[in-house]
Amino acid sequence: MAAVEYREEDGILFVKFNRPEALNAINREFVRGLRNVVEYARENKSVRVIVITGEGKAFCAGADIKMFSESSHFAARNTIEELGRVLEDMEDLEVPVIAAVNGFALGGGCEVAMACDIIIASEKASFGQPEINLGIIPGAGGTQRLARLVGWKKAMELCLTGERISAEEAYRLGLVNKVVEHEKLIDEAKKLAEIIKSKSPYAVMLVKQAVNRGYKMSLKDGIMYERDLFTISFSSKDAEEGIRAFVEKRKAEFRRDRE
Ligand code: COA
Repeated sequence: MAAVEYREEDGILFVKFNRPEALNAINREFVRGLRNVVEYARENKSVRVIVITGEGKAFCAGADIKMFSESSHFAARNTIEELGRVLEDMEDLEVPVIAAVNGFALGGGCEVAMACDIIIASEKASFGQPEINLGIIPGAGGTQRLARLVGWKKAMELCLTGERISAEEAYRLGLVNKVVEHEKLIDEAKKLAEIIKSKSPYAVMLVKQAVNRGYKMSLKDGIMYERDLFTISFSSKDAEEGIRAFVEKRKAEFRRDRE
């Protein structure tokens, strides 16, 4: 049984973390599995959206603490570095990634969710950076992405206390986009994926670039960057089609693949 399973279905790449006996904790095989997902999405232009969830009662309970207990600090650093790189590459993918968080998203699991473009949480989900309880700190973007998402002081509090927060609280803080009934989680994620799939793949890619890269720039630089991407989007065939379809009062027929 692979630690990370994935299958493509009609343009949506469904990914499942699959080590339920260890609450989908992150070991080397898990990191390799996530790397394979990123490579697959890069190489297969039929993929338009990715939906990630976890098997069992966890999305992912963070780095495998048993593996850490047998690791030198060099080996631990290598694993965390590799995870951090995969998350950056996932963030840089052309296609949006939706985290469908079904349960615990702790430590590295919270870091994985935060590197996704949209987070939908089951009402049973919970989030946190509990590394401090082990005498360590987050190592794959936790302190950084969390501060950008929920604000400086709240991130400080969560990383210092290791407190676990509910899906509702995460929603209130702006960490998740939507909280849904547990049984409806995958359907809701799929519904959102279908909406994104109906748009121009080219415009979707440019929105993702503009929001993600612009977010790390000053407002002035971000606005200039957006203007350049707008200009690029304006010269695409999909823009021609989208604008003409509006004027002709019909539904736009956007390109169906990313070739
Ligand atoms: N690494 C390795 N194994 C883990 C794990 C992790 N991060 N999180 C849970 N597991 C394992 C448990 O050891 C247990 O295995 P066992 O049955 O062989 O003993 C199994 O998953 C189920 O976990 P359990 O603790 O019994 O479930 P619970 O519902 O009582 O508690 C948590 C759930 C998430 C609160 C608890 O497992 C936990 O605190 N995990 C660690 C979270 C963490 O600190 N992550 C950051 C790591 S850097």
